[in-house]
Amino acid sequence: MSSDRPTAADRPEPTVLAQLSDLHLDGGPRASERARAVVSYLLGLPGTLDGVLVTGDIADHGTDDEYRQAAKLLAPLADRYPLLLCPGNHDAREPFRRILLGGHEPGGAAVNQVRDLAGTRVVLCDSSIPGRAEGRLEAQTLEWLDATLAAAPHLPALVALHHPPVDLGLPYIDRIALREADRLAAVLGRHPQVTAVLCGHAHTAAATTFAGLPLVCAPGVASTALMPWEQEPGRSWKTEDADPALTFHLLREGRLTSHQRTVPVG
Ligand SMILES: [Fe+2]
Repeated sequence: MSSDRPTAADRPEPTVLAQLSDLHLDGGPRASERARAVVSYLLGLPGTLDGVLVTGDIADHGTDDEYRQAAKLLAPLADRYPLLLCPGNHDAREPFRRILLGGHEPGGAAVNQVRDLAGTRVVLCDSSIPGRAEGRLEAQTLEWLDATLAAAPHLPALVALHHPPVDLGLPYIDRIALREADRLAAVLGRHPQVTAVLCGHAHTAAATTFAGLPLVCAPGVASTALMPWEQEPGRSWKTEDADPALTFHLLREGRLTSHQRTVPVG
């Protein structure tokens, strides 16, 4: 049978990333066991990844002890893969920067970062508002994002931030989503090399669109959100009964393909 599709040998190698989110390390055994299971799974892969991205809420209360726990737990991952860490609303900028990134910038400034991995520019924006659950990208962050994308117009880009910029149909999360999302959409609209937006925060593997781009929300490591039709009246918006999960992203020729995996604990 003939086909016009190029064979695998003709096609460029994809950029392959793992995305984890919402570890909520709190010093207790449950969160650390779940995070350790996911880390062990990634360390045990027979193949390799171009990077591992963690989209926020790494700590639960933003204390030094929680970040020391996170640094220890994530160190083997950082030894094997480029590790990109983005803060969420449960994180605290100063200890996040000092303990996880070894940074010396002013503690209160937004933690924005860019890394080029296997021909893909990964831009991490800090959407946290200190002391608040909802998110917003500061004017300086939006300016930085605009300049960072403008500096490499031919490099495919992924933009990652903790807070989803759209409603996901989860009332609890939608109330604390990204504010002023139209300002982010305006920046993304100026840079056609942006392939997708990656988020966390919602503790659910969700796929939707934003600003004409795919938007992928990684599942939570610590817990899993329940949709309104899954929730018992008066009970929590999330469950710890589901296994921790992660997402693999494959980026090739301007298309993002995402695969979900759950990882049993113990
Ligand atoms: Fe969050």
